[in-house]
Amino acid sequence: MIVKAIERVGDKIRLLDQTRLPSEEIYRDYDDYKEVIEAIKRLEVRGAPAIGISAAYALALAVGQTGDTSRANIVKLAEEIKAARPTAVNLSWAIDRILEKVNKSFSGKPEDILQLIWSEAAAIHEEDRLMCRRIGEFGADLFKSGDSILTHCNTGALATGGIGTALGVIYTCHQQGKNIHVYADETRPLLQGARLTAWELKKAGIRVTLLTDNMAGMLMRQGKISQVIVGADRITKNGDTANKIGTYSVAVLAKVHGIPFYVAAPMSTFDRTTETGDEIEIEQRSPAEVTRLFGTPIAPEGIEVFSPAFDVTPDELITAFITDEGIKPGGRKE
Ligand code: MRU
Repeated sequence: MIVKAIERVGDKIRLLDQTRLPSEEIYRDYDDYKEVIEAIKRLEVRGAPAIGISAAYALALAVGQTGDTSRANIVKLAEEIKAARPTAVNLSWAIDRILEKVNKSFSGKPEDILQLIWSEAAAIHEEDRLMCRRIGEFGADLFKSGDSILTHCNTGALATGGIGTALGVIYTCHQQGKNIHVYADETRPLLQGARLTAWELKKAGIRVTLLTDNMAGMLMRQGKISQVIVGADRITKNGDTANKIGTYSVAVLAKVHGIPFYVAAPMSTFDRTTETGDEIEIEQRSPAEVTRLFGTPIAPEGIEVFSPAFDVTPDELITAFITDEGIKPGGRKE
């Protein structure tokens, strides 16, 4: 059974607290949109598509809570929610999609507008589930039994409304009976690979080997990696791709070793308004995420810290994009 990271329960939102995994599986119900914003910021819910879905539900909660369905109030709440995390475009994409729908129905009754927001949020959730399936099916054609695939961060059921993007491809290969072996980067500093990807894949009975981020080069040099597959937080018009910090290093390694590097993402992650990766706002995280491990200091007090949450992989390092509309070539030439 694939885990559900987000669920609508009546007029509440149930989130699996991903900061507690893998040791505890704790679900929390939210009826306060400000708490959903905090949950997004704390990475209780994370992964670009999952951030978009929870933000959409947060807008429904917010409009219900304030009891004000005026255009001015909805736009104000939308801006507040959009500011939760800047890099994953799925967040603003989901909120803008709802605003567009609402804009067309302002003549309606207040309860109809609230209902419309809830149903559009549910539609975004359901469509994401279906997009994950299609990404899985298109992507699985690129892999065969015996492949050993490196992935970075977490792109599975925890990060989406369905089976995942890059991990969705892996789940689909597994369902098709392909014997694949996944190598999961631990993904410093917040360990989404170790805590989440390893947990998800082990639960699904897929062979997974965990490594620290600095071990990938050696594995590639030893010929143990046949492909790399990762997700994305934002893909610009020229194909530059923001994803979890460390992705760029993996892409460079893959290029040097002649290993295909795939990015799996739904069309909601493609940002048609941004030309290149240089324009992407990269979220900066608290220095404590680098200087402490589970609350324990691992660096001298007061040290200067570099802590971006994401990096940008240029299109020329990407072999292909696996989307819900099919496979699109990246800019990488062999
Ligand atoms: O900071 P996070 O955990 O939200 O970062 C997540 C990633 O970078 C994922 O690879 C990306 O959002 C794609 S999830 C399908």
